Amino acid sequence: MACGKVILFGEHAVVYGVPALAVGIDRGAWADATWASPGTPGASSLHVHGWDITVTDDVDDEGLPLARALRDILRVTRAAAAVAAAQEQPTGPVMVQAGADLPPGGGLGCSAAIGVAVARALDPIAEDGAIAERVNAWERVFHGNPSGIDAAVSAMGGCVHFERSKKAREARESKPTIRRVHLARTLLLCIGHSGIASSTKTMVQAVARLRDRHPKTTHKAFEAISALVKSARLALEAGDVRAIGQLLDLNQVLLSGLFVSTPEIEQMCTLARAAGAEGAKLTGAGGGGCVVAIVEDTARGEAVLEAWKREGYDGFLTRVAPVAASVGRDAALPRAVQGSV
Ligand code: PMV
Repeated sequence: MACGKVILFGEHAVVYGVPALAVGIDRGAWADATWASPGTPGASSLHVHGWDITVTDDVDDEGLPLARALRDILRVTRAAAAVAAAQEQPTGPVMVQAGADLPPGGGLGCSAAIGVAVARALDPIAEDGAIAERVNAWERVFHGNPSGIDAAVSAMGGCVHFERSKKAREARESKPTIRRVHLARTLLLCIGHSGIASSTKTMVQAVARLRDRHPKTTHKAFEAISALVKSARLALEAGDVRAIGQLLDLNQVLLSGLFVSTPEIEQMCTLARAAGAEGAKLTGAGGGGCVVAIVEDTARGEAVLEAWKREGYDGFLTRVAPVAASVGRDAALPRAVQGSV
């Protein structure tokens, strides 16, 4: 099992080296792998249940993204096994079955969660940090220049403070700094879908174009988001739900300024606040996808879901507990994790 994620603060800016805060949620993805014996001819395959799609890894760069992602994750998994020569890794073709209970294009890290589930099924003893690194190879196929936050949170669960290097070249080559954030209390989040699927790659490219055309204003927005993330970390550690809500609202204003919000997202945020949420914002790439709202208690959470439902938006409540959610294996923190913030 690999969890889906909600970015609470810092999406988009995180691509350019601003820290971000994200939490793993109790919905996610699963995968099973069956290896043929070494030397068996034939390609490896991946079937994703629910999407009704099967791909094989014998593709070139023109192949379907999912097929290329399978090819690339197999390549890095096999390379890692070859480096760790002591570890025996099957070399024949592998048949992988996977599925997810996350909406694709919803901003909840569906592709990364499937990637993490597949990476774990291929190599069940790899540590979370290694899994997250391998999934970046998978994510690059779908997203071009992923920050890596989705894969890290999906592999680790809990609440995570994530920061990649500010320099573009280093960001691709060096390891990000990933730290666990210790929540003072369980967070109660409402997640609602705007009903519109969006492409992370397209939205990240749109922000990149905006940054090229208006470097100063975009830089100012990123600086403001960075300041928000600092305050948000303190609010999360203090369990101050009201402050977290206010900071979510401010982050939403800044995301609207980057033109990644939509009328549906704005409506959902307004509905959530009016129904008693402490704050709300889009989560993930925007341009559609999901909204996250924070509430003090279940009654208010249900009121938010009801308000969304009346306007035709589906949603669910999720709890993020202070202790890292178990996401399939109770591994030591990955190498890239450098203690709590
Ligand atoms: O929409 P998602 O779940 O793919 O999240 C994207 C988050 C971005 O910051 C917009 C991109 C990234 O790679 O971090």
